Amino acid sequence: MKILVVGSGSREHTLAWKIVRSPRAEKVFVAPGNAGTAAIAENLDMRPTDIEGLGKAAQERAIDLVVVGPEAPLAAGIVDHFDGLGIPAFGPTGAAARIESSKGFARELMEKYGIPCPKGAVFSSYQKAREYLREQRMPVVIKADGLAAGKGVIIAGSLEEADGALADIMEAKTFGAAGDRVVIDEFLEGREVSLIAFSDGRTVSPMVPACDYKKIGDNDVGPNTGGMGSYSPPGFFPKQMTEKVTGNILMSAVKAMAAEGITYRGALYAGLMISDGEPRVLEFNARFGDPETQVVLPLLKTDLVEVLMAVVEERLDRVNIEWSPMACVGVVMASGGYPGSYQTGFPIHGLDSVDNDVLVFHAGTRLAGDGTVRTDGGRVLTVAAVAESIDRARERVYDNISRISFEGCYCRKDIALREIGGINSIR
Ligand code: AMP
Ligand code: GLY
Repeated sequence: MKILVVGSGSREHTLAWKIVRSPRAEKVFVAPGNAGTAAIAENLDMRPTDIEGLGKAAQERAIDLVVVGPEAPLAAGIVDHFDGLGIPAFGPTGAAARIESSKGFARELMEKYGIPCPKGAVFSSYQKAREYLREQRMPVVIKADGLAAGKGVIIAGSLEEADGALADIMEAKTFGAAGDRVVIDEFLEGREVSLIAFSDGRTVSPMVPACDYKKIGDNDVGPNTGGMGSYSPPGFFPKQMTEKVTGNILMSAVKAMAAEGITYRGALYAGLMISDGEPRVLEFNARFGDPETQVVLPLLKTDLVEVLMAVVEERLDRVNIEWSPMACVGVVMASGGYPGSYQTGFPIHGLDSVDNDVLVFHAGTRLAGDGTVRTDGGRVLTVAAVAESIDRARERVYDNISRISFEGCYCRKDIALREIGGINSIR
């Protein structure tokens, strides 16, 4: 089969890495990819949101399956476009991706179908939202309705801060049209975990649970990022919890969508808060998580292409998906200054000195004319290791990270530390 992966991050490198290991994959393309994907597949220099262009490129190359990584092309209907061309594409349609691209839609769906979520409300009127804020206990969580590259959620500690966030989103339109509506949530305390599942619209099959680290600094301080590391499985999220969330949340969401006339095919991601043993949904994403995928897919024992095809052909009930009981830890190496401004173009040293079984998934990297791999973005690499315990996986990741360097390189030192009795970096 000829397979096209859309995206350029570490998640897409992980998808391509897993796909090339399938006996069914004859040729893999990544659009636009990075230096890491160039080493295992053929990169196509195209933007993920160039839906028409990607459609043409796929037709010219007789692509048999497209796998879409990021949310923007999904929300813009890339899968609908490929459906129209008769090319199987893994991912939800634009209508189904609304579960991520509109937080208001997701909240209304959860409320209508009894899917556990924080108390809250959706507003399109700035005045009504302001009045509602006055009745809420602080802190409160204010979310822009639409896609905001992970920046549209503000946790406000005081009414003043909440008013400011609301004005930014709805009046100043900091996030553009994404702020035409807002969701206001009660603030929940607890432990956060991500559970992603494969769904073909009828059958839902969970992956292994994972935790990601969103803040730039150790102990969860500083601004949010695209994700600084992740690990699987979290000790506080036992197997029974996976079953419970699969039934009450993921399956319920797929059924709710079906009741609304929408078939959900693709990866469905539930971002959960576990408070007093009860999981509630903070957000749904319509795709594989980043950086969760970098620690989840290395634990998948079944051929990924087989699973992806079962989803697009709506026969997931006939596939037995197996997961390794091992642990995986992934740590992101970022450019100094990220998530603020940073420089790129620095050569990356030491990639050859990494152990054979340690995984280096590229994100912002490019192959320079002189053959060197250079930095080309905020998040540069995710280094991941599989081992019999979180402790050992973590040790191996940091040991290998110490062999890789580039100017200004930064990584968090506390990824997965809470699992081994270190400082508890979660609320
Ligand atoms: P979201 O994009 O909706 O998942 O929000 C981003 C982050 O904000 C989450 O990963 C949580 O850390 C935090 N968050 C979102 N909603 C809530 C909530 N209701 N209570 C506490 N924290 C929240
Ligand atoms: N790790 C969070 C996300 O993928 O949105």
